[in-house]
Amino acid sequence: MALPDWSEVRSLEPKTLTTLFAEDGDRLTGLSGDVAGIHFDWSKTHLTAEAVAGFARIAETMELGRKRDALYAGEAVNVTEGRAAEHGAERGEGAPESVAQARMFQARMRALIDAIEAEALGPVRHILHIGIGGSALGPDLLVDSLGRDMNRYDVAIVSNVDGVALEDAFDRFDPQATIVAIASKTFTTTETLLNARSALDWLVEGGVEDPYGRVVALTAAPDKAVEWGVDETRVLPFAESVGGRYSLWSSIGFPAALALGWDAFEELLEGAAEMDRHFRFTPLAANAPVLAAFADLYYTQVRGCETRAVFAYDQRLALLPSYLQQLEMESNGKRVTADGQPVAWPTSPITWGGVGTDAQHAVFQLLHQGTHLVPVEFVASIESGDALDPDHHRQLLLNAFAQGAALMAGRANDDAARAYPGDRPSTTLLLDRVDPRTLGALIAFYEARTFVNAVMTGINPFDQFGVELGKEMAKAADRGGQDFDASTTDLIRRAFG
Ligand code: F6P
Repeated sequence: MALPDWSEVRSLEPKTLTTLFAEDGDRLTGLSGDVAGIHFDWSKTHLTAEAVAGFARIAETMELGRKRDALYAGEAVNVTEGRAAEHGAERGEGAPESVAQARMFQARMRALIDAIEAEALGPVRHILHIGIGGSALGPDLLVDSLGRDMNRYDVAIVSNVDGVALEDAFDRFDPQATIVAIASKTFTTTETLLNARSALDWLVEGGVEDPYGRVVALTAAPDKAVEWGVDETRVLPFAESVGGRYSLWSSIGFPAALALGWDAFEELLEGAAEMDRHFRFTPLAANAPVLAAFADLYYTQVRGCETRAVFAYDQRLALLPSYLQQLEMESNGKRVTADGQPVAWPTSPITWGGVGTDAQHAVFQLLHQGTHLVPVEFVASIESGDALDPDHHRQLLLNAFAQGAALMAGRANDDAARAYPGDRPSTTLLLDRVDPRTLGALIAFYEARTFVNAVMTGINPFDQFGVELGKEMAKAADRGGQDFDASTTDLIRRAFG
């Protein structure tokens, strides 16, 4: 397969951000744009028209256009597992038969939601969603971001096998008024099945007469859910071709669809579809996920940056960085190309971040004066999420904007400890508001950007074999059938005797 040649973009004359602004009066216009209720500003990155053209040439070599079409056509782009990656079909952008199947599954989910709303399963005030990784992070983000104004039920998303997490939910909820949603694509994940078993016991201990009658399964393995004990009528399937970390659009989004209401869930899908269409049909130089990936690649391939930081300057988006960690690092944390050759260039940067303004008082010291160059992403909303004195939101946004300006401009000082070197890059994503539609577009943007980064670096973003070894060893240890090194054996002895 073709491999990327970074030499052209690596040989571009490096210029500081302030020089780039001084030299090009149109820089802001050329490196910003609006899509689906989101304003994107890449002008404070080191991207230039030459760099964009250089990356576009690499995109041609790597057949980005053809691979993007193959993704949405439902071709087997997940080559190592021989299957498609059809999260687009969940929002209507995909092969017609896959879109039809997704709609059929969504109709089934909606019917169950209608039945729950009509109290056909008895009174419901609480939703206990049990899942991990992609079966938890997406629903958690949706409920946490949008739920403040809209949640019609109390929702707890429990992922950790540490029983403390589940006990916290038990303490909050009345078993007689709780729906337990077991979310697992494979319906084999140890943590999820153990948590589900304990939740079932809790229902029984809480005097629920028909505990299985309160359980819903969200899965691509419906037979396994039925085998586990879930009634077939309450199994909400989704397609095997929807990857775990891309699955919030499917029945995995059930707690959000139930808590926020079906109309909100549809809005979410429509916002994502709008971003899909932008990604599919807009020329590369004006294509938001493509430009964002080009900026990512500039920092990983040209400047050697090993991390990138995302700060949500909005409490409602507090879970966005952890959602993106799985999306980006589980997708693109790879060391071989899609056809199995070792890669000789970096793939995914380490994604990390937090919430502004909190993070300013914790980690921004390193961003301003540390030895690492960290491209920063600010995500904020023009419309406020609170009803307090408008000064709260004004301070929040002004801080986000000022941080970007300070990182770029720096400030000289004769005292080196007090000097800011500046020329530190940032991107800003300014949302009109945090609502289902815009959030759908935002998440779809990140998915597409992750895909572009994968195509450009020659890797397959849709497998995750790297998570298996540790899981297998834990299972073998549980059966007593694993020979460990001296250190691990000692730890096991100390913990269990
Ligand atoms: O361990 C990683 C992983 O396979 C993720 O990719 C996935 O989202 C998560 O585990 C949960 O898997 P499942 O939905 O099958 O329980």
